Amino acid sequence: MAFLRSSLGLKIVMALTGVILFGFVIGHMLGNLQVYLGPEAFNAYAASLRALGHGTLLWVARGGLLIAALLHIWSAWRLTLINNAARPVGYREVERRESTYASRTMRWSGVIVLLFIVYHLMHFTFGVHAVHPYFVHGDAYHNFVTGFQSPLVSGFYVLAMLALGLHLYHGAWSFMQTLGLSHPRYNHLRYAFAGFITLLILAGNISFPVAVLTGLVREQGSADTRTAAHPGVGR
Ligand code: HEM
Repeated sequence: MAFLRSSLGLKIVMALTGVILFGFVIGHMLGNLQVYLGPEAFNAYAASLRALGHGTLLWVARGGLLIAALLHIWSAWRLTLINNAARPVGYREVERRESTYASRTMRWSGVIVLLFIVYHLMHFTFGVHAVHPYFVHGDAYHNFVTGFQSPLVSGFYVLAMLALGLHLYHGAWSFMQTLGLSHPRYNHLRYAFAGFITLLILAGNISFPVAVLTGLVREQGSADTRTAAHPGVGR
């Protein structure tokens, strides 16, 4: 326990939970790409997730993700307290070496991603009426399309994805540092790898709202099906 609470222990907890969360974000983006295959494929995919291990496995995965997210936030919080205690008075002049815009904004991007997840769950998972008035339980494709048909909502998703990108970029980079994969000769490879994987996730995730707003992904029938597919919904 004492080791876990030390700076190094906390960094290891943060790195390991970060990898789990990273894995989820990649898997989630790849899974969501199925929206391009049409409503049947996407809804079948969403239903298959819910049915995983007769529904038990989904809850195990959810529990694991929640624990990973809580430990990630806890270690970030503890490390911030330790860093602040080590230097209660700020530097008069800050000379930045080895720090990027992404690394200096880690806390802010983390808070924005956390707020985004709360909003996202109310939007696409729980279907809170005030957040998603056209939500229909069990019709993930319809919820996806009608959710992103609002330019305001889509704009918010894109902004949140940019914050997520900053967070993932520095996260991937510092994970390799914690693992000891650090050598001045190969650092450019670390930057390239972190940049590549972050861009891949961003391209996939940002493509979703853009695809709905441009009409590439839409419900069959009319262009704006916010109420057409399920009359009475959203009123
Ligand atoms: C534009 C990007 C994204 C899209 C289109 C999207 C889409 C969705 C959809 C449709 C669901 C509901 C699935 C269902 O219940 O049938 C969902 C659930 C979820 N999403 Fe996303 N998502 C995106 C980005 C993210 C990101 C970046 C994160 C995390 C950082 C995230 C975390 C989650 C979580 C935790 C759930 C709940 C999973 C569960 O326990 O059922 N999503 N997402």
